[in-house]
Amino acid sequence: MLIVAKKISIIGASGYTGGELLRWALMHPEMEVFQITSERFAGQSAYKLNPNLRGFTTLAFSPVKQLSTDVDAIFICTPHKTAAPYVAQFLETGAKIIDLSADFRLKNKDTYAKYYAVHPHPELLEKAVYGIPELHREEIKNAKLVACAGCLATSVILPLAPLIKNKLILPEGIIADSKIGSSAGGAGFDISTHHPERSGTVRSYKPSGHRHTAEIEQELSALALSQVSVGLTPHGIEMVRGILSTVHARLSGKAADIDLWKAYRSFFAGSPFVRLVKDQNTLYRYPEPKPLVGTNFADIGWEIDPEKGRVIVMSAIDNLVKGSGGQAIQCFNLMNGLDEKTGLWHPGFHPL
Ligand SMILES: NC(=O)c1ccc[n+]([C@@H]2O[C@H](COP(=O)([O-])OP(=O)(O)OC[C@H]3O[C@@H](n4cnc5c(N)ncnc54)[C@H](OP(=O)(O)O)[C@@H]3O)[C@@H](O)[C@H]2O)c1
Repeated sequence: MLIVAKKISIIGASGYTGGELLRWALMHPEMEVFQITSERFAGQSAYKLNPNLRGFTTLAFSPVKQLSTDVDAIFICTPHKTAAPYVAQFLETGAKIIDLSADFRLKNKDTYAKYYAVHPHPELLEKAVYGIPELHREEIKNAKLVACAGCLATSVILPLAPLIKNKLILPEGIIADSKIGSSAGGAGFDISTHHPERSGTVRSYKPSGHRHTAEIEQELSALALSQVSVGLTPHGIEMVRGILSTVHARLSGKAADIDLWKAYRSFFAGSPFVRLVKDQNTLYRYPEPKPLVGTNFADIGWEIDPEKGRVIVMSAIDNLVKGSGGQAIQCFNLMNGLDEKTGLWHPGFHPL
């Protein structure tokens, strides 16, 4: 059978998520990267910003105004609030749209206004499917517009989803404590990301009210069929890529380890990128971000604390892969009738 590669374009390809997406797209057996955009670096070769891509592409950046819409899919990797106008502009062109920003993740325009700004295209919110395949696989297959989940949100929603769905934990008082690498802040810089200020730090930068709280609560409440309340406290740490979220929740009853194994195994059956990591007698007993660098895996582990009636859930991802570029390719695969592992099945490195 002759396979015709899908033509794709990436808006915002000079950034960290766009560069990572470009890396995966260039290696994808059924994708042809047609155009990549940057306003600041228009005319320059992609490999000059992404030295890892030297020898893999001769593409140069174009400004968005030169973007051709004669493609099968457009990925948007620009900051929130800048992506919405592009989605509105390109949604009716026939190209499938995969937006990596936060602009179409929330269903409720008032919630978007609370965390971001007044939404310029609230009429399009209902057209978007939230881009976590493990939760919305069937809807993503038929979607024209996918709003990829936030990186922190992915790392908190995935480990909680089976517990919430099976009512194994109480829906309130859940606390997610996340450690996150510096690439989550994007390729732009300010004093907070300047090396002498950032290096060696463990820094809490948004102890409450982080904007990903909104999508975490939206998705978990939909699974619970009732309001779920989650507090999210991220910390910037000495790491470039990766997230480790440690989530604390109260058990709703006397669940045993076997009940959690069953809930996780059943929820993630058929989800190749979620691995349960809960071992004894090994160095790697629980999830860690480091072995996941450059992979699309989400590793999940847990421990029940019976004395306190609580469960501690650990979840690790690479923010630039399962937290953005890789998850976007996973969604693209589903939207195009491909096996979701296509072009993404990579074990990472050890040691690193
Ligand atoms: N970093 C992560 O871990 C992560 C994870 C999940 C989701 N996200 C989301 O993904 C998006 C991109 O994040 P990032 O970390 O890749 O940011 P980034 O490194 O700062 O890159 C931003 C990109 O957007 C382009 N851009 C900015 N404003 C634009 C505009 N008005 N029109 C066209 N292009 C514009 C920039 O191009 P120029 O060269 O022209 O400046 C650059 O290519 C954000 O919405 C972010 O929240 C990021």
